[in-house]
Amino acid sequence: MLSEQTIQTIKSTVPVLEVHGVAITKLFYDRLFTAHPELLHVFNHANQKQGRQQTALANAVYAAAKYIDRLEVILPVVKQIAHKHRSLGVKPEQYPIVGEHLLGAIKEVLGDAATDDILAAWAEAYGVIASVFIGIETDMYTNSALQPGGWRDFRPFVVARIDKESDVITSFYLTPQDQGPIASFEPGKYVSIRVQIPGETYTHIRQYSLSHAPGQPFYRISVKREDTNPTVPAGKVSVYLHNQVQEGDVLWLSAPAGDFTLDQTDTRPVTLLSGGVGLTPMVSMLHFLVTTQPNRKVTFIHAAQNGQHHALRHEIERIAMAHPQVTVAWCYTQPTASDASEQAYHKQGYIDLPWLQSLVPTVEGSFYFCGPLPFMKAVNQLLIAWGVPEDDRHYEFFGPSGALS
Ligand SMILES: Cc1cc2nc3c(=O)[nH]c(=O)nc-3n(C[C@H](O)[C@H](O)[C@H](O)COP(=O)(O)OP(=O)(O)OC[C@H]3O[C@@H](n4cnc5c(N)ncnc54)[C@H](O)[C@@H]3O)c2cc1C
Ligand code: HEM
Repeated sequence: MLSEQTIQTIKSTVPVLEVHGVAITKLFYDRLFTAHPELLHVFNHANQKQGRQQTALANAVYAAAKYIDRLEVILPVVKQIAHKHRSLGVKPEQYPIVGEHLLGAIKEVLGDAATDDILAAWAEAYGVIASVFIGIETDMYTNSALQPGGWRDFRPFVVARIDKESDVITSFYLTPQDQGPIASFEPGKYVSIRVQIPGETYTHIRQYSLSHAPGQPFYRISVKREDTNPTVPAGKVSVYLHNQVQEGDVLWLSAPAGDFTLDQTDTRPVTLLSGGVGLTPMVSMLHFLVTTQPNRKVTFIHAAQNGQHHALRHEIERIAMAHPQVTVAWCYTQPTASDASEQAYHKQGYIDLPWLQSLVPTVEGSFYFCGPLPFMKAVNQLLIAWGVPEDDRHYEFFGPSGALS
């Protein structure tokens, strides 16, 4: 238990640290990677360069510190981070290392303002926060290893089949190299994939949502190649998967993780909204919904640039044809001439509220969405404008979590 005085010291210094938040975490990472370059095998270097991870970690530490005497308030957020940590293989013995360098960075940035009392209070508070994470993650590792077909860290999988789904998205079917059973999963979950790209010093780990239903002898991921913007460096892992990985190659996978899952006790209509490659968890959910809740109304709405970028279209349409409770609708921002002549889409431009309301029978239902950040912000605003309560708006970020408003 922290003393009342420690709690007060922490709470009174959080605003100061928030002001210096990004400076502290940037310095923290510089110190961390200088002292422990082996951690570059685990962290995403592009997120580091773009500052996204710095912001996520800073926010989490300050949020935890604000609620240091009521950590149960932020438990859902802690669990979400813990899922990601577990999928990355973060270990209890790494927490003191992170703590040491975070404290060191706080001390350096605050200078004289960092009194011994303040530093001691933060060291104590970090210890409390770390032990909450470690406790939750230890349970997650155990559950992940003990479930039928489960495992603890990374397991080798063979790329059994590669299917090109669109100009930019390719599916990879993965079966365990040991030919043993594989853990089932709730649709919406993701796996972390660890790759050693030839010529690269460090391994790279990325998350990919499982895009097929559970209960198959394989996992399927569907990956967008991130090299279409000539003004930024190409994405490492997605481009490696697209350009170099072939059938028969081996990839290392974590067991399925994440908390973006369907509430299976909910029988109200469900709407699955996706933009671009954000459709992957939705396709898994769709497969699952039609088999486990055949009476539940499902509206599947997907936004893509055009038919050439539109992945898994026929798979989804086949499900809709076989299940009258499923409605699908396509929204293309830049349809091609052949999209137009084939009437391949239902709406041109962006999803708007009147169109959404024309497709979804009632606001009384659950809404799941995923896609690029601007898409997610727009959809979230539409749903708020329609009156969908927070509890019925579920979403997944395909990167470090951030704010939608
Ligand atoms: C829970 C979750 C589920 C996901 N599911 C999927 C999925 O189903 N399918 C899918 O395709 N992806 C998914 N992702 C995203 C995926 O994990 C990767 O982030 C994505 O494939 C890009 O990885 P990369 O290694 O190719 O790019 P990275 O090397 O990580 O680069 C990321 C992006 O930054 C750009 N970039 C690189 N360096 C710089 C720089 N210096 N300045 C500016 N920009 C830069 C790159 O072009 C790229 O677009 C998911 C992510 C999460 C967190
Ligand atoms: C109390 C301490 C910690 C806090 C509050 C914390 C917080 C966070 C947060 C908020 C994220 C982003 C989650 C998201 O993607 O949405 C994250 C990701 C991550 N964390 Fe932690 N973390 C802590 C300790 C650690 C430790 C000890 C390690 C081990 C080295 C670690 C490694 C990582 C990695 C590798 C990622 C993903 C980074 C990326 O994708 O670039 N974290 N953490």
